[in-house]
Amino acid sequence: MDILRVEEVDKNYGALEVLKQVSLSVPAGCIFAIIGPNGAGKTTLFKVMTGESPCNAGNVFFQGENVTRAPAHWRARAGMGRTFQVARVFNDFSVLENVVAAIEARRRYQHQPAGRFWAVEPAREVLAEAHQLIADIGLATVISHAARFLSHGDRKRLEFVIALALKPRVLMLDEPTAGMSPADRLGIADLILRIRDQMGVTVVMTEHDMDIVFRLADRIMVLSYGETVACGGVADIKGNPAVQEVYLGKEMNHA
Ligand SMILES: Nc1ncnc2c1ncn2[C@@H]1O[C@H](COP(=O)(O)OP(=O)(O)OP(=O)(O)O)[C@@H](O)[C@H]1O
Ligand SMILES: [Mg+2]
Repeated sequence: MDILRVEEVDKNYGALEVLKQVSLSVPAGCIFAIIGPNGAGKTTLFKVMTGESPCNAGNVFFQGENVTRAPAHWRARAGMGRTFQVARVFNDFSVLENVVAAIEARRRYQHQPAGRFWAVEPAREVLAEAHQLIADIGLATVISHAARFLSHGDRKRLEFVIALALKPRVLMLDEPTAGMSPADRLGIADLILRIRDQMGVTVVMTEHDMDIVFRLADRIMVLSYGETVACGGVADIKGNPAVQEVYLGKEMNHA
């Protein structure tokens, strides 16, 4: 089943046509990468999918339901997680406190007992869930550190934990390794694989690092000037002359 589908989406900013008749479908359980040069429209397409920005034409379906007009918070609760906006990190809170706050928020809208974070100790099941998630993502050694003192890689991990605390079906990652060292990038790449394999979360991501894309993605869609240039598996994309044209002067064939 396609967990997420975009059909013939147009998006304009004034006279600027940023997305032109873009369609895609993401099978459940896959890692789907959207790539393309700067300004191609990747982030805009993300915003259309998450509901942060409405499209001018076309439709977005999530788990078979037409969500084109559903607001971002509704889509988040329906299972569209992302590592920005919703997943705000509280800088003065510890890793544990950040994760507890996210789990409590989810439990509150699911009408489960959540405890009252600001006033009393978190509920025991909330704490247990937080410890488990933090350990799974590899943050146990910094669990009591304030978020502002985390390394760039650990901060990104914390954003992942917060997004996962909402128990998403799909996790949307806009450039998850941006600004990271090569070692941190590999760590995040492994983490994305584990999130898909062990937690069963479908991943949609944009990424400029082709090594990471070719390592992770089951399907790749190439955008250029708001239009789809190609969509397929790693081999299709690597061997596609139209894609090589888009990336002229850039190395496509490594990894
Ligand atoms: N809020 C906005 N108002 C007007 N124009 C915008 C807005 N957001 C994006 N754009 C324009 O839309 C085009 C696509 O931008 P977008 O951020 O989606 O590209 P991108 O593929 O994510 O680029 P990058 O790889 O640099 O992140 C660009 O020309 C950009 O200047
Ligand atoms: Mg972008």
